[in-house]
Amino acid sequence: MVKRLGKIGIGILVVALAFFSFGCERQNKKENKETSKSTLSSYTEPYRPQFHFSPEEKWMNDPNGLVYHNGTYHLFYQYYPDSTVWGPMHWGHAVSEDLVKWQHKPIALFPDKNGFIFSGSAVVDTKNTSGFGTDTTPPMVAIFTYHDMEGEQAGKTDFQTQGIAYSLDNGDSWSKYEDNPVIKNPGIKDFRDPKVFWNEKEQLWSMLLVAGDHLQIWNSENLKEWKKVSEFGKDKGSHGGVWECPDMFPLKIEGTEEVKWVLLISINPGAPNGGSGTQYFIGDFDGTTFTTEQIENKWIDLGRDNYAGVTYNNTPNNERIFIGWMSNWDYARETPTQKWRSAMTVPRNLSLKSTNGVLELYNYPIPQLKEIIDEAYPENAFELKENQKKIIALKYGNQSEITFTVNNPNMKILFSNETGDSLDITFDRYNKRVTFDRAKSGKTDFSEKFAEGIQQIPLTNLPEDPIEIRMLLDHSSIELFINKGQYVLTNQVFPNADYTECTIENNSDKPVNIDDFTERKVQRIW
Ligand code: FRU
Repeated sequence: MVKRLGKIGIGILVVALAFFSFGCERQNKKENKETSKSTLSSYTEPYRPQFHFSPEEKWMNDPNGLVYHNGTYHLFYQYYPDSTVWGPMHWGHAVSEDLVKWQHKPIALFPDKNGFIFSGSAVVDTKNTSGFGTDTTPPMVAIFTYHDMEGEQAGKTDFQTQGIAYSLDNGDSWSKYEDNPVIKNPGIKDFRDPKVFWNEKEQLWSMLLVAGDHLQIWNSENLKEWKKVSEFGKDKGSHGGVWECPDMFPLKIEGTEEVKWVLLISINPGAPNGGSGTQYFIGDFDGTTFTTEQIENKWIDLGRDNYAGVTYNNTPNNERIFIGWMSNWDYARETPTQKWRSAMTVPRNLSLKSTNGVLELYNYPIPQLKEIIDEAYPENAFELKENQKKIIALKYGNQSEITFTVNNPNMKILFSNETGDSLDITFDRYNKRVTFDRAKSGKTDFSEKFAEGIQQIPLTNLPEDPIEIRMLLDHSSIELFINKGQYVLTNQVFPNADYTECTIENNSDKPVNIDDFTERKVQRIW
């Protein structure tokens, strides 16, 4: 973690630590008041996402505590209210009734004597097992990692522990449990990011916790006393970096009654296209232990900017809704925004589908997003002969949805503008891959790593044509969904002006047939 800060960061942190270790509560109240007083900016700064969640100002990373309660979706997030770079972590908070429009709330959790508040989850303790609420007012309970920065800097290994806090007013105010931490550190340097869920089979709470190179599962009757019951993963999956932000849930294989469990593990570094990425495992969970026969590494998103994503607890109809942090630790602190830093992906539905006999996790925007996407008539159906191209003028700048279906997806898609920026995506069905090149997409010189290399995405299991292509552009991001979320690429871009043209060019010796090419305006949510 120290690596992430740099020298200036450490200086700031030392001062910050001295500040936090004394009179913490008073400070919390003051800041909370200020946050709740502040009003929304116009959200019109350059690169400001218009339909993705971003904090009003300052630094944000992982989504935390995703939970639905009493008609409200809560989004907590790693937040540092004093700077646009990472620092002493708090939990920021926002709420939504539809997962489309968000309302900012005051900061939910502040650092205290046990440390900064790192990533974690939240549950609704319906049976009041914790005793924090009453039978009629079930508490919301947040479970998070305490990061003791002084301990880390002193070279200790036990500086990450797990704590809990509860709210009896739908997340508006929070009390920390007086006997925190509830799980002490057994001497493992990276020991964090608790994801708690109700374990139906055992009728108790289960917690997923990452411990450096593996996952641990802990059980509890009351959210306060925890017992480790199993481990997974030392010899499974990708280990290019530390394991972070676990999540696990059952999903029915589409079109069948068969249920499999999916485990998400974020790793940093070690993603296939560099830096941070999220792998998944499909397997079984017997109530205590997760097992899998999966051999190959699988990734939820093959772009560079979808990290630390997790899913909602307690959703109506048991939907599995995922939100990721739309950035990458390789350059997250350097992206060219002024007032705030980074955004979340659009919420996506996760599903398990078997294609050509292979089970895969699909992720695709929630249908509610349609509420803010304008109706439009499909405009263009066209055929491109060998090496032929078509230039389509874009009407809605970088705030749009573009969809089409394609027969013979052997083509280049180029987004460009009059300042000379060009974003280059190629589809190559013959060699089974997509490439994404943002070297000339706009501003890239803020970090050497941002545009390093061309992203390569294997398309090993695409079904027969036609294939649906869907792209969401929101000023500084592009989310590309191939075949309804079978392959997904999420990437940030910082063009010098909106892209005004989309050129599609045939890369093959057979005709490429595009159907229903449609550009739709997406309404802003702020
Ligand atoms: C993932 C992560 C988590 C940690 C948090 C700190 O991006 O490193 O493992 O809890 O960020 O902000």
